[in-house]
Amino acid sequence: MSLLELDNVTIRFGGLTAVDSLDLKLVQGEILALIGPNGAGKSTVFNLITGIYKPTEGKISFNGKTLAGHPTYRIADMGITRTFQSIRLFSDLTVMDNVKIGAHCRGKAGLLYAFTRLPGMRKEERELEESSLQSLEFLGLAGKKDEKARNLSYGEQRRLEIARALVSKPKILLLDEPAAGMNPQEKAVLMDIIRKIRDTGVTIFLVEHDMKLVMGISERIAVLDYGKKIAEGLPSEIRANQSVIEAYLGTGQFKSRVRR
Ligand SMILES: Nc1ncnc2c1ncn2[C@@H]1O[C@H](COP(=O)(O)OP(=O)(O)O)[C@@H](O)[C@H]1O
Ligand SMILES: [Mg+2]
Repeated sequence: MSLLELDNVTIRFGGLTAVDSLDLKLVQGEILALIGPNGAGKSTVFNLITGIYKPTEGKISFNGKTLAGHPTYRIADMGITRTFQSIRLFSDLTVMDNVKIGAHCRGKAGLLYAFTRLPGMRKEERELEESSLQSLEFLGLAGKKDEKARNLSYGEQRRLEIARALVSKPKILLLDEPAAGMNPQEKAVLMDIIRKIRDTGVTIFLVEHDMKLVMGISERIAVLDYGKKIAEGLPSEIRANQSVIEAYLGTGQFKSRVRR
């Protein structure tokens, strides 16, 4: 059964069709990758799923219920969280507080709640502390919980973003180019972490340019070009697919698309 389903989803920005009639299913427990050139519409797909954008046409459903019209924090409460293509951390806050904010930004109470300690909130505060610590442990960052985020290495900062997205125990985790800017060693660590997250039952939807990582961990791959899905299948099928090869430079990177 599919957990998340995009049914004929289109979004236009003025004259530009950023995502074009996209059908896509995410199956419970899998690692699905979405690949394609810069500008193909991958991040826009994540923005559509998380309610940042509304589809111009088509339907997105999660567990059989339509997501359209729900704000991002509601969608997070329902069980879909994400990381962003570029790092979005509060660099002067501690690692721990950055993770806690991940849980609070979902709800109405927001930041104020994160830093107040009214009596009725103590239990929730304790639970949050615990789940944040668990999340940090999972990402190998518990030892750095009191450091300021700015003092982490680049790879650690990217992992901190994943910790933050995990603290609310999502059913689906969307990762937007998590390996961008990482060195090979950091990428290897990341690959293990993504597998480990999936093994806890979280379904992974991955946008990534690094083909070694994509081919190494994905069970299925969908390819987007100019907003359209041009291929979908097993890694071995995608590697051999002629239209994918044509959209591809052969250097391990897709070429960029200039779109009007
Ligand atoms: N809010 C927006 N307004 C106008 N154009 C946008 C907006 N968001 C994305 N686009 C355009 O949609 C296309 C797809 O962008 P994006 O999803 O970021 O691509 P990718 O993540 O695959 O590199 C690009 O041409 C981009 O400029
Ligand atoms: Mg992108």
